[in-house]
Amino acid sequence: MNYIKTISNSRDETELIGFKLGNILKKLGGPTTIYLFGDLGSGKTVLIKGIAKSYGIAPRDIGSASFVIVAEYETSPPFYHIDLYRIEGDDALESLGIWEYIDSSGITAIEWAERLSEIPEESIKVKLKFLGEESREIIIEGIDEKDWDNMQEGQV
Ligand SMILES: Nc1ncnc2c1ncn2[C@@H]1O[C@H](COP(=O)(O)OP(=O)(O)O)[C@@H](O)[C@H]1O
Ligand SMILES: [Mg+2]
Repeated sequence: MNYIKTISNSRDETELIGFKLGNILKKLGGPTTIYLFGDLGSGKTVLIKGIAKSYGIAPRDIGSASFVIVAEYETSPPFYHIDLYRIEGDDALESLGIWEYIDSSGITAIEWAERLSEIPEESIKVKLKFLGEESREIIIEGIDEKDWDNMQEGQV
């Protein structure tokens, strides 16, 4: 399995990790769905702000999507920020049209991917864990360590 494991010691560091991931995904091209796992406050939204920045969206425009469930950005490719925190059950997922977003030709970032009954294989999964007040373990599955190491911090 291709994955990278890293530690973030601040909010800004997590946003930078997201930016780095976004830059790699952008370079690889094509539609992508990023599945994020982790407890409330672990940093999923912060990391998505960094990913979004790679696609030309200002981090401040990425909200805590819990209230919106789906936020769409008319970038090219389109960017979808989805938060499944308040979603319960497969029926609710169906009526949200989650599979259309997952299969869309855009970039889709999904918080609370724990809520999904299935996740396609070979997908990009980000797992965040609390280590301390400001430190988090971040595992990114589906990314080559080589791509990660070759991508300079903050490079576009
Ligand atoms: N290393 C870190 N990475 C990300 N967020 C951090 C970190 N340390 C502290 N924080 C704080 O934790 C919170 C994370 O919030 P958020 O990204 O909305 O979490 P989630 O979307 O997973 O519920 C923010 O208030 C942020 O300032
Ligand atoms: Mg969030």
